[in-house]
Amino acid sequence: MAQHLMQTLHVELGDRRYPIFIGSELDTAQLLAPYIQGKQVMIVTNTTVASLYLDQYSSALQGLGKDLATCVLPDGEKYKNIEHLQLIFDALLGAGFNRDCTVLALGGGVIGDMAGFAAACFQRGVYFVQVPTTLLSQVDSSVGGKTGINHPLGKNMIGAFKQPQVVLADMSHLKTLDKRELSAGLAEIIKYALLGDLDFLVWLEQHMEQLVAGDLNLLAEAVYRSCAHKARIVAADEKEQGERALLNLGHTFGHAIESYLGYGQWLHGEAVATGMVMAADLSMRMGWISQAELDRVKNIINRAQLPITCPAIPLTEFLAYMSHDKKVLNGQLRLVLLKRLGQAIIYKDFDVEHMHQAILANQNLS
Ligand code: NAD
Ligand code: GLY
Repeated sequence: MAQHLMQTLHVELGDRRYPIFIGSELDTAQLLAPYIQGKQVMIVTNTTVASLYLDQYSSALQGLGKDLATCVLPDGEKYKNIEHLQLIFDALLGAGFNRDCTVLALGGGVIGDMAGFAAACFQRGVYFVQVPTTLLSQVDSSVGGKTGINHPLGKNMIGAFKQPQVVLADMSHLKTLDKRELSAGLAEIIKYALLGDLDFLVWLEQHMEQLVAGDLNLLAEAVYRSCAHKARIVAADEKEQGERALLNLGHTFGHAIESYLGYGQWLHGEAVATGMVMAADLSMRMGWISQAELDRVKNIINRAQLPITCPAIPLTEFLAYMSHDKKVLNGQLRLVLLKRLGQAIIYKDFDVEHMHQAILANQNLS
């Protein structure tokens, strides 16, 4: 019944082109059937998502006649590590899975990143399906093929590009999502508006309270518009040789916040939110955006129930974490900044003193 509300996008990667289905209460079996080649399917999920949705997906896949196995990991960013990745390999080998198996990620970005990395490595690469169940994973992590795990010295430092066969974003799963997690997803949605789409920013300003309240139709529209941006950028620059780095707006600052506070203390989206304020603040100090525009950035982030300042972090430590960023080239940090509102650029010749001020000005020193 709700199928007619479904929207479809494609990530145009030649013979690796894949669809993103966005809608509510999707017909899982019908949509997945064409994209699962072999008989063996390993659902990778976590304890929280398993209790909510594992039965639904297990039944759908069994209905398709698949040989099903599951790997249920503990829930949390702190488990996105090599030890827990090993559990996926244990499960795949324990179930006797072959090279034509499919790894299906059922969960948020942590599960998607880990399952995708396992799919990239197991027997040098097997099929992969993304069923993102958080707003953040629906608008960002499930699309584009970045997968990986954290290292104690840096976030997402070990990984691989592994594109899925299909992405199934069922908006109805957001009904069970914690409000704080919904807001974390809104951070990545705001990111797309700030980096490349002023009209989308205006739309978000018109609808932010309804989005925060969990209006599924508006959320579906926001997911569609966000995925359309990401799909276009990934198709143009899959391996992040250029334009794709724009998707990291706020992330260099955000990763420093996340890493300093300890994985899982602040949500990824929360750290990105404050990181975007720091990037916008530096852009203002560069003379590219006005104080009023910086306030506009802070205002939309604040209305999404996201933090615009982070706890006090010693500058030397903040900078040390920033230096682990994957955008460091030849020892030179490159930042994504706002040339204007709705247009981001990758820039290395910023004034370092201005960067320090932008970090310090957006810490909560009280
Ligand atoms: P998450 O995967 O930790 O999920 C957040 C919480 O929501 C978890 O407790 C999870 O169990 C729970 N949950 C998931 N779906 C639910 C549902 N429908 N109902 C109730 N609870 C549910 O966090 P996230 O925000 O989805 O993803 C963050 C991760 O994504 C980070 O590790 C980040 O590095 C990664 N990421 C990757 C990319 C990429 O391109 N690969 C992009 C952005 C973020
Ligand atoms: N989340 C940034 C990217 O996928 O490139």
